[in-house]
Amino acid sequence: MINTVGLRAIEHDDLRQCMTWRNRDDIRTRTRENRYLTMADQQRWYDSLTDPESHDRMFMVTFDDEPVGVVGVCDINWRDRHAEISFYLGEQTVARRGITRDALHQLHLYAFRELGLHTIWAEVYAFNTPGYALLTSLGYHSPGVLREHVWRFGGWHDAALMQLSVVEWKEPRWDSEVSRYR
Ligand SMILES: CC(C)(COP(=O)(O)OP(=O)(O)OC[C@H]1O[C@@H](n2cnc3c(N)ncnc32)[C@H](O)[C@@H]1OP(=O)(O)O)[C@@H](O)C(=O)NCCC(=O)NCCS
Repeated sequence: MINTVGLRAIEHDDLRQCMTWRNRDDIRTRTRENRYLTMADQQRWYDSLTDPESHDRMFMVTFDDEPVGVVGVCDINWRDRHAEISFYLGEQTVARRGITRDALHQLHLYAFRELGLHTIWAEVYAFNTPGYALLTSLGYHSPGVLREHVWRFGGWHDAALMQLSVVEWKEPRWDSEVSRYR
């Protein structure tokens, strides 16, 4: 069987699933918004996403048409053409199979080719080795570190700024460079 990773719009029916994923400690502690989210928060988020003036473009990641995670670009600055990247894998049973890497390849294609962004950036906390390794493998570099930027697990932690510009970005060769969902 040939497995496929896809991106689709986030539907209202996805909100409860997204909330459950986002409230899991391994995801919640790695994101800036680390409050426990409620369905009211999710509704506000959905309303903001579906607003035609929205500066966010968020997608459900699917693996063989089943929802497994979320990726997107947020706070798009249309004048300077940059945005922050956001991503998580919610479905742990398919972790480490290259699904998020493939989803981010598709997101980069959308962000650089369709939206015309010039740079994409992220803030990765020092304890988030998987997040840092994933972005590094996609060509992101770190122009700097924000010292003791977040409070997590009872202590202060640095945050690496990470950035990818369209000039550095290499469109993957889909036949060979994208993961094959081992
Ligand atoms: C980071 C995260 C998205 C990885 O999802 P995933 O689908 O399992 O990742 P992939 O299988 O696509 O991994 C691609 C690369 O990421 C890195 N990586 C992923 N999981 C890793 C882990 N547990 N330890 C070390 N590196 C890891 C590796 O470089 C990996 O490549 P390799 O398998 O060829 O070595 C997932 O662990 C997650 O949701 N974390 C919490 C949310 C988060 O940190 N978001 C980012 C905030 S900046």
